[in-house]
Amino acid sequence: MSAYDFTTAPDRLDTGSMKWSRYPADVLPMWVADMDFAVAPEIVSALRRRLDHPVFGYAVAQAALREQIVIDLETRFGWRIEPGDIVFLPGVEPGFNMALKARLSPGEKVLIQTPIYRPILDAPGHWGLGALAVPLVRGEQGYAPDRDALADGLAQARAFLLCNPHNPTGYVYTRDDLGFIAAACEAADTLIISDEIHCDLVFDGSPHVPIASLAPEIARRTITLMSASKTYNIPGLKTAFAVITDPALRNAFNGARSGLVDSVNLMGLEATLAAYRDAGPWRSAVLDYLQSNRDHLGRELQRLIPGIRYHPPEASFLAWLDCGALGLPHPQSFFLKNAKLGLYAGEAFGAEYGSFVRLNFGCTQAVLTNAVERMANALAGYGQD
Ligand SMILES: Cc1ncc(COP(=O)(O)O)c(C=O)c1O
Repeated sequence: MSAYDFTTAPDRLDTGSMKWSRYPADVLPMWVADMDFAVAPEIVSALRRRLDHPVFGYAVAQAALREQIVIDLETRFGWRIEPGDIVFLPGVEPGFNMALKARLSPGEKVLIQTPIYRPILDAPGHWGLGALAVPLVRGEQGYAPDRDALADGLAQARAFLLCNPHNPTGYVYTRDDLGFIAAACEAADTLIISDEIHCDLVFDGSPHVPIASLAPEIARRTITLMSASKTYNIPGLKTAFAVITDPALRNAFNGARSGLVDSVNLMGLEATLAAYRDAGPWRSAVLDYLQSNRDHLGRELQRLIPGIRYHPPEASFLAWLDCGALGLPHPQSFFLKNAKLGLYAGEAFGAEYGSFVRLNFGCTQAVLTNAVERMANALAGYGQD
């Protein structure tokens, strides 16, 4: 029995929540990637303590936070870095955009693996770059990279914007995959930008491997982006960090900040330190709960809507649902109108994925059950009106 209660969740209506403001109050929102759970009490206490000092000027990361991240990366992933390798950022999304701006010139190509998180899909276009989409391929067991296609793509691309664990499929790249990618990037002199924001939420006791941890020479061509935001449910505090071991690459990355990317949120820095230093037990508990939600969703879909194809994700709290067999013209609009469910439309992750929806199961299991029931009831009425 967990010391934390994830079976109840605070009412988030009228709290300025993006997730809970997009749709009318009768719509259950399951779109943007934050969870409905209260954050770890250790984080709340740290923020309260900081409020006791009533000055909230521009912030800078303190040595304790850098040291904590160094310890965490070594103990959790066996990756040894130096405190000075860390660059704090107001988000992972600004981080991968800064990386592209710093190192690529208009016309060059960036490899991405579709379907993919919308801001990654869009990022190359912000800098006049071409996106070279190499889709993940679906087998019986779920999604995985197609190595031949990847090798071809990497030979043409100036950078690989990797997302590991992958949003929206929940695929976790294996050490072997990453070795293959790293070797191909070495051979073609390709920059690796690795968005690892979901790295602390890998299920089934499986490891997460930061690609930069494979070898120092791979680290030298890699910008790794991480944050406590997804895992500890603090994305509204807008704090993330890059790890860049090569000083020249780090300087170029920092140079791309000018005029665009401001300093980091004071409270976000406090919360990040408390998360990594004090909230490990909460992380383990939420991971167990999310894993049981992942499996519950599979059972409920099988029972009520077997026409939806679902490969349980290996990480995080996002389910990528193939509704193609249901014959709906646009599943997201259908479920919004008829089930009062706010899902993410598949085409946001690539034009060819319009028959998919992404469902966020970072909610209580009762809410998740209710969501599938709403979908099943809506489908039962489909074509009858
Ligand atoms: C893969 C991935 N990268 C980046 C982000 C956004 O990160 P941030 O809010 O730190 O910009 C998300 C949010 O869902 C995500 O899933």
